[in-house]
Amino acid sequence: MLLTQLLLTTGLPLLACAQNVVDLSGKQWTVTNPEKNVSAPGSLPSHVHLDLHNAGVIREYYGINEIDLRWIAWSNWTYTSKPIKGLSNKAESSWLIFDGLDTFATVKLCSQVVGTANNQFRQWKYDVSDILKSCKSDPVISIDFGSAPAIANSISAQPGQETWPDGVQGLFEFDNRWFIRKEQSDFGWDWGPAFSPTGPWKPAYIVQFEPDDGLYVLNTDIDIHREGQINHLPADQTKPWVVNASIDFLGTLPKGASLNIDIKDLLNESSIASGSLTGITTKSGTITGTTTVDADTPKLWWPNGLGEQNLYYITVNVVDSKNKTLATVTKRSGFRTIILNQTNITDAQLALGIAPGANWHFEVNGHEFYAKGSNFIPPDAFWPRVTEARMNKLFDSVVSGNQNMLRVWSSGAYLPDFIYDIADERGILLWSEFEFSDALYPVNDEFLENVAAEVLYQVRRLNHHPSLALWAGGNELESLELPEAYEADPESYPKYQAEYEKLFISLILPIVYENSRSISYTPTSTGNGYTKIDFSLPVPMVERYDDIAPGSYYADSDYYLYTTSVAFDMSNYPVNRFANEFGFHSMPSVYTWQQAVDEKDLQFNSTVILHRNHHYPPGGLSMNLTKSAEGMGQMTTGVEQYYPVPFKTDTIANFSAWCLATQRFQADLYKTEIQFYRRGSGRPERQLGSLYWQLEDIWQAPTWAGIEYDGRWKVLHYMARDIYQPVIVAPFWNLTTGSLNVTVISDLWESVSGTVNLTWYNYKGEPLSKTAATSIPFHVGPLNTTDIITTNIKNIPISDTKDAVLILSLETSGHLPNSETKVQFTHENYFAPVYTNEAKLVDPGLKLSFNNSTQKFVVEATKGISLYTWLDYPAGVVGFFDENSFSLLPGQTKEIGFTLLEGKINSSWAEGVTVQSIWDQSVSD
Ligand SMILES: *[C@@H]1O[C@H](CO)[C@@H](O)[C@H](O)[C@H]1NC(C)=O
Ligand SMILES: *[C@@H]1O[C@H](CO)[C@@H](O)[C@H](O)[C@H]1NC(C)=O
Ligand SMILES: *[C@@H]1O[C@H](CO)[C@@H](O)[C@H](O)[C@H]1NC(C)=O
Ligand SMILES: *[C@@H]1O[C@H](CO)[C@@H](O)[C@H](O)[C@H]1NC(C)=O
Ligand SMILES: *[C@@H]1O[C@H](CO)[C@@H](O)[C@H](O)[C@H]1NC(C)=O
Ligand SMILES: *[C@@H]1O[C@H](CO)[C@@H](O)[C@H](O)[C@H]1NC(C)=O
Ligand SMILES: *[C@@H]1O[C@H](CO)[C@@H](O)[C@H](O)[C@H]1NC(C)=O
Repeated sequence: MLLTQLLLTTGLPLLACAQNVVDLSGKQWTVTNPEKNVSAPGSLPSHVHLDLHNAGVIREYYGINEIDLRWIAWSNWTYTSKPIKGLSNKAESSWLIFDGLDTFATVKLCSQVVGTANNQFRQWKYDVSDILKSCKSDPVISIDFGSAPAIANSISAQPGQETWPDGVQGLFEFDNRWFIRKEQSDFGWDWGPAFSPTGPWKPAYIVQFEPDDGLYVLNTDIDIHREGQINHLPADQTKPWVVNASIDFLGTLPKGASLNIDIKDLLNESSIASGSLTGITTKSGTITGTTTVDADTPKLWWPNGLGEQNLYYITVNVVDSKNKTLATVTKRSGFRTIILNQTNITDAQLALGIAPGANWHFEVNGHEFYAKGSNFIPPDAFWPRVTEARMNKLFDSVVSGNQNMLRVWSSGAYLPDFIYDIADERGILLWSEFEFSDALYPVNDEFLENVAAEVLYQVRRLNHHPSLALWAGGNELESLELPEAYEADPESYPKYQAEYEKLFISLILPIVYENSRSISYTPTSTGNGYTKIDFSLPVPMVERYDDIAPGSYYADSDYYLYTTSVAFDMSNYPVNRFANEFGFHSMPSVYTWQQAVDEKDLQFNSTVILHRNHHYPPGGLSMNLTKSAEGMGQMTTGVEQYYPVPFKTDTIANFSAWCLATQRFQADLYKTEIQFYRRGSGRPERQLGSLYWQLEDIWQAPTWAGIEYDGRWKVLHYMARDIYQPVIVAPFWNLTTGSLNVTVISDLWESVSGTVNLTWYNYKGEPLSKTAATSIPFHVGPLNTTDIITTNIKNIPISDTKDAVLILSLETSGHLPNSETKVQFTHENYFAPVYTNEAKLVDPGLKLSFNNSTQKFVVEATKGISLYTWLDYPAGVVGFFDENSFSLLPGQTKEIGFTLLEGKINSSWAEGVTVQSIWDQSVSD
């Protein structure tokens, strides 16, 4: 099985067909720039920055190198191979295949141009038969890469090129990204650097055919859906499965060729379906066929927390009329339906108290569920160093964080198959997007053809992954870009809207539907949904836009507010069916900063740190620290307005305390919002998802991430892990009216009953006598909420609101969806009538020890209540504690394990672990 997986992830067909395939991966390359007199060993796949970094020429992520290394982005670069060995001299035809070139490339073989490339996201194939035959000596490949920023600028300057009104196109650092098909965040974003890397970033091959050499598989589309299923409508779950296989190949398909299939259970290797496919169709370079599988034969694939991730190996053979195999491809897949339900709210739903409008939620195998997760950004500025090992670690954190969905933000790059494979195994749904973001895009024929080829390739490549949950056209197009265009130029607005629809609906939607019956499509990440889909119309999906009725809800929300003084006022939060973006930035830990900046720069507002904070983005190539300072100011007020202000005498300790303080504010804000959105599952908005911005970091910088660049968890990721548990108890304080509710929220698929204990304490941890502990029984329905207390802050029986904490503690038991095992659920939360900067905090007298027999840390509060109890581990390894940023009552101990993700720990490592609480933030040393 290991071997199979290895082969699968390299994309090679399982059975080596008879072609001669020469893998061009490896170190036999040189990267040069004669103009700058640079020459260094190169590799493939790679990026120029990586090769220069490995050769010791540059240090890519250090200090303000993002600015100092701009010359790399403005330069042209050439990758030259050593003479290619292993070529056949009897070949009838030969092809050069690149699974990706980033971005503008002219490819030469034996000094002759074989072709060009202008899209990072396409696979390129060049017929080099004649060139190879005429090539005298050992053939050499060279790839000239042009400067993407320079080319983007020159395209924008072409006469007749499209323009947009000022303020519409999101400009971060390099300009004109919307003219080119390259990762848009390579030109800068508000959480990342603008390196504009270039190079042969994906594997490449020479494929040579002699007569009767079979076919070489370029791409495979496997589509599994229920019979009669239409992408955006509910599937009949009693219908048989349809398995449609479609193979893109190189080589000559003989007459009478067909397909057969074998679907094997992953564990015991027994076959659940095999035989010939029917309805074989061929068109140039593609052969397609179909079969059905009994409705109940395959075990279903479920997301994390909702059931098992059952997977199957699907082997498809292309065979000739004598049943001789011409090509074989094996993909691991799963049986599930996933739809984005956007149908109108029905009368039955209205009768349940659901507000009118439309649904906007996901259904897996016909079941509504609560989507819990975050937004995935590129985990590195340089994709070739994003390894399977690193992504396994990241997805360990996603699963441990109780998440079941990530939104793979555009733009970004389409993820490699190995990341979808990891998501398939872990049950992490990937809401996937085409790479368009925060801009309007040109619609000339050349651009549209280029996009069409990209979309076709990517939809087909990824469709077999059961983790694939949705295709969205792009980011913030209807919620931000079109309104901005309207604002800037109302007269021309119809033109911009028509262009938007031409690209994101008329062009892309049919390509998705023609290659998948299993995945829904929405043109924009955030919008108001559609009113109808009708393929007889030139724009087959009719968007609702602003045609909305008050009191009705239609879709999802994207919400940020940087006025920290009102951060916890829930009345500002959007009420809608789903929250796909929300958040606030924070500093990474001092350990992460130490990887990237000099010791002398470890000060909150040092120039280097200001520079690395791209919120707000400079808006061009000059280093505008004024905009960055605004963002640093927001993080500062977020701390000052609610928490004790750090004032350590040691500079580094003070810096570290500030970093942590910004993370506490960030985590509290997300907690309040996630509780609010989850509560919506039981309210008229029937809110069924929250995906916060953002899961992880692309580099070491202040950002919205919950996981730092090397994998270390911020306070946020621990908090999200806690608040994404299936059954939680949460306080809701309406700052306008003073109303205070305590609500139980459950996303289980069954009703559960239990109790919540509520006790008021002072900060010394003494129960407040007048308010004896109460134990309130509750009953909460499936995917629902129940208020267990409805009162007003005025009515709480507390004499000194500055010395009072309400501890909420929930206990219940029940079944996770699709599980027969009854499990206990517990959850703790707290409420305090004043923020900790006004509270009468006392030293909780924290004690930390390490229990050698359980290999767990033991934390105890001895003198008072410990809020925001924070365990911290030294640099050198990456991992996470079972729990962190929790509350402790005096006398209470907690045993806490540590899961190691990377590195080695020895017995003395535990001695470096520290514990502190919000009290420590209020004292100088
Ligand atoms: C890069 O190559 C282009 C096309 O050959 C050329 O016009 C441009 O001047 C080159 N740029 C640099 C910085 O050498
Ligand atoms: C959408 O959800 C509603 C409510 O659960 C349901 O009645 C309807 O059949 C669903 N439609 C689709 C397209 O799944
Ligand atoms: C072709 O061979 C496969 C096994 O390799 C078998 O499953 C299939 O039934 C054969 N098809 C025909 C038409 O004989
Ligand atoms: C859904 O409701 C909208 C009004 O909001 C209406 O225009 C549309 O026709 C309805 N769609 C269906 C399928 O009933
Ligand atoms: C707070 O109460 C006011 C007044 O009743 C109401 O308008 C507002 O929606 C409430 N806020 C929340 C978040 O419930
Ligand atoms: C930097 O940004 C600020 C705030 O947007 C602006 O007022 C200022 O002109 C900018 N400075 C430069 C050098 O662009
Ligand atoms: C950082 O700089 C900003 C902008 O000048 C300022 O508002 C903020 O108070 C500073 N923060 C700290 C912690 O010094």
